[in-house]
Amino acid sequence: MIKHDVVVIGGGLAGMRAAVEAAERGADVAIVSKMHPVRSHSGAAQGGINAALGNREEDSTDAHTFDTVKGSDYLGDQDAIEAMCTDAPKQIIWLEHRGCIFSRLPDGKIAQRPFGGAGTPRTCYSADVTGLVILHTLWEQLERFNVKVYEEYFCTALCVEDGIGTGVVAYNMRNGELELITAKATIFATGGAGRMYAKTTNGYASTADGMGIAYKAGIPLMDMEFMQFHPTTLKENGVLMTEGARGEGAYLLNSLGERFMFKYAPNKGELASRDVVSRAEWTEILEGRGVDGCVLLDMRHLGREKILERLPQIRELALDATGKDAIDEPIPILPGAHYTMGGIETDLHGATRIPGVYAAGECACVSVHGANRLGGNSLLDTIVFGARSAAHAVEYIKSVGEVKPSTRTLKQEQDRVDELLSRTSGTRAPKMRQKMNETMSANTFIFRNEGQLEQAVKDLVAVRQEFDAGVYVMDKSKTFNTDLVSAFETDFLIDASLALAAGALARKESRGAQARTDFPDRDDENWMVHTLAFRQDGAAPKLDYSRKAKITKWQPEVRSY
Ligand code: FUM
Repeated sequence: MIKHDVVVIGGGLAGMRAAVEAAERGADVAIVSKMHPVRSHSGAAQGGINAALGNREEDSTDAHTFDTVKGSDYLGDQDAIEAMCTDAPKQIIWLEHRGCIFSRLPDGKIAQRPFGGAGTPRTCYSADVTGLVILHTLWEQLERFNVKVYEEYFCTALCVEDGIGTGVVAYNMRNGELELITAKATIFATGGAGRMYAKTTNGYASTADGMGIAYKAGIPLMDMEFMQFHPTTLKENGVLMTEGARGEGAYLLNSLGERFMFKYAPNKGELASRDVVSRAEWTEILEGRGVDGCVLLDMRHLGREKILERLPQIRELALDATGKDAIDEPIPILPGAHYTMGGIETDLHGATRIPGVYAAGECACVSVHGANRLGGNSLLDTIVFGARSAAHAVEYIKSVGEVKPSTRTLKQEQDRVDELLSRTSGTRAPKMRQKMNETMSANTFIFRNEGQLEQAVKDLVAVRQEFDAGVYVMDKSKTFNTDLVSAFETDFLIDASLALAAGALARKESRGAQARTDFPDRDDENWMVHTLAFRQDGAAPKLDYSRKAKITKWQPEVRSY
């Protein structure tokens, strides 16, 4: 049996930041990850990380907090948002002191670019590879503290004994053995669920793993209906073209050559919040002003030098996928599934309802993003709440004696996997994933209505039941059985999708990323509440609205850009 004081599940930015914080505080901490940490999806984050560094007179923690509250369409909890924005400058300096290479101004200060929904340029960046640069900085810190990393271990279940979290069961992908990993505190940092959709900016690993495990253990998923569609993704492969491009001055054009965004956001244009820009693009496309189902991202006027200095990666990504060079030609783009604003319900320390169980980063819902996240706040969320959850966990474990190893959960998981592998026929997981992807993409995209959402729930309940009745894992081998791992992942994705569709169907209003054509207005009287989804076997979740959105300073106002 493996045993540590704190185990962090997931090796991306939130996970590594949590592990380093725990190590700095002297805890015995390990990371359990299905892949090598520097291959995590966090490495695909491009445009930057927000913090009111004080480089501009007009910027402040309060201004950052307000922009985020407004961006969230007033659903984000204002105490949590304030905590995040207050910690932001300290965390940037923390990263900087550990060698993170941010782009600089000529006077040596950390450079900050404009981003959508922000009142002032506040997004610190490393060209357009910010996630990757921070990922490597944190990896160096893990090495420095000799943090043990269990790589290629796939967590399948949370252990709960006498009402407290006692670690996880993980499947060792190298030898096919299930192992019990006992810990006084467990921090989930497993990333998002973008693979619910057929096309997404997310890596293949973004399969709702931590969300699915926590959900099965009785922790609710919160606000799952709020899925962010990023305005600029490549049609060919869903890959992200950073908002940093528009931050640097790129235009969005329709087939008439119009900069259409000013019709929808007269003040901010291309730098309105993401939900607004994605809806505007989709409207242009639906009304026949698209170009091959896309609109155009035009960077030509930025000039070769600026593109090569600040946006070199997206130029290459676009060139590889489309054959078009952004220096000379506009790039066709369209909105794509990007970020799961909902996730495992936590408080502002990352603590869940089960003592000893935490969540941080995209798998968590604190909630700092509410109904729409601002660009540059996701990297910030990973760093701030990675650190906060570890700090809380290290305090928590001081009052916890020896925890009981959950041999019960290990046996239960062993029986489940043995039974799965003993099946000789059935439907394979990729087929079910395809059905899930199809209904999610057709019925829970940017604009939604009752008929579509009912269809999505119906389809997803059917997929859920088909999976439970007989998912078939054809590969019976012990070494790197990706067929089995794909079945585990599909199981989690189905649950996350069903929570999203059920939450979207029940929420009879439009707010942030949830645009209901049958309920086009925001309804503050009835819907300033979070959606809590509790899992039910073989069915849509039970929904609960007892958690109200927290307001500290800012009453909901009409939101315009
Ligand atoms: O557009 C981007 O660079 C993405 C940033 C984010 O999602 O925060």
